[in-house]
Amino acid sequence: NRRITVHDIARAKERGEKWPMLTAYDAMTASVFDESGIPVMLVGDSMGNCHLGYDTTVPVTLDEMTMLAAAVVRGTRRALIVADLPFGTYQEGPEQALRSAVRLVKEAGAGAVKLEGGERSHRQIAMLVQSGIPVMGHIGLTPQSVNSMGYRVQGRGEEAAQQLLRDAKAVQDAGAFAVVLELVPAELAAEVTRSLTIPTVGIGAGEGTDAQVLVWTDMMGLTGGKVPKFVKKYADLREVMSGAARAFAEDVAQGGFPGPEHSVH
Ligand code: KIV
Ligand code: NA
Repeated sequence: NRRITVHDIARAKERGEKWPMLTAYDAMTASVFDESGIPVMLVGDSMGNCHLGYDTTVPVTLDEMTMLAAAVVRGTRRALIVADLPFGTYQEGPEQALRSAVRLVKEAGAGAVKLEGGERSHRQIAMLVQSGIPVMGHIGLTPQSVNSMGYRVQGRGEEAAQQLLRDAKAVQDAGAFAVVLELVPAELAAEVTRSLTIPTVGIGAGEGTDAQVLVWTDMMGLTGGKVPKFVKKYADLREVMSGAARAFAEDVAQGGFPGPEHSVH
C-alpha cells in the first residue's frame, strides 16, 4: 500500500498503458478520486479559477498552493501528488525554483512539482531534478502567460510546431518525468509523444498522448459558465448541488426539516 511513484509512471509508458490525471484542491475531493483509483492528481494552479475565485491562474501564491497541496496529500494514500509552481515562484531562475519547490515537497508533502515552459524553463527543471524533486513539464498553452499569449491553440504552423518539438525535447533533456501538452493540434501532440521517451499528458491535445488530464470541476459540471470545448462532461454536479440546496431551503421554509429522526430529546 505505497504511493505511486514516477518510476511506476515510466513503466506505464514502456507497457503502452494510458493513464488518467485529475486536478484536486481539497482533501475530501482528493480522497474520492484516490478511492476511485486515479493514479496521479494535480494540485493545479487552476485552483485560482476553480477554487479561489480569481479570473486567471496568475494571482495564485505559493502559500495558497502549499496549503491546498497539503490538504490533497492528507486526503490521499495512493496517488502521486503533483503540485504546480505558481506564477512568479520560479521564473527568476533555478535557485528561486528550488526554494519554491522545496516548500511544496517539505511543507505540503508533494511527490512532484509542475512548472510551465520548455526551453525557457530548462535550467529550472534541471536544478529541481538534480536536487531530487521529480518535475512534470507543461508546454503548448501555458496559462500563466495569458497576458502575453492569450488562450489560443499553440503549435499551429510549421515554425510553431518545430518550436513545440524543441520545447518537449528540452523538458525531457532537463530530466522531467512527464510533460503536459495543453491545447495543441492532435497530430502534433501525437508526433511529440512518439518523439519522447517520457509520457505526455494531454489536455485539449487529442487522443495520441500517453495520459489525459482534466480539471475536475470542469469534467464534473461544477464550473459555472463556459468550459473549454475539449472538456467531456461526466457529471452535472452543479445541478445536483443546487437541487439539494433548493430542497433544503424549501424544507426549512415548509417545516419538512428537521424531522423527529433529526432531533434529540
Ligand atoms: O492547473 C491546471 O489545472 C493544469 C492542468 C490543466 C494541466 O495545469
Ligand atoms: Na496549471
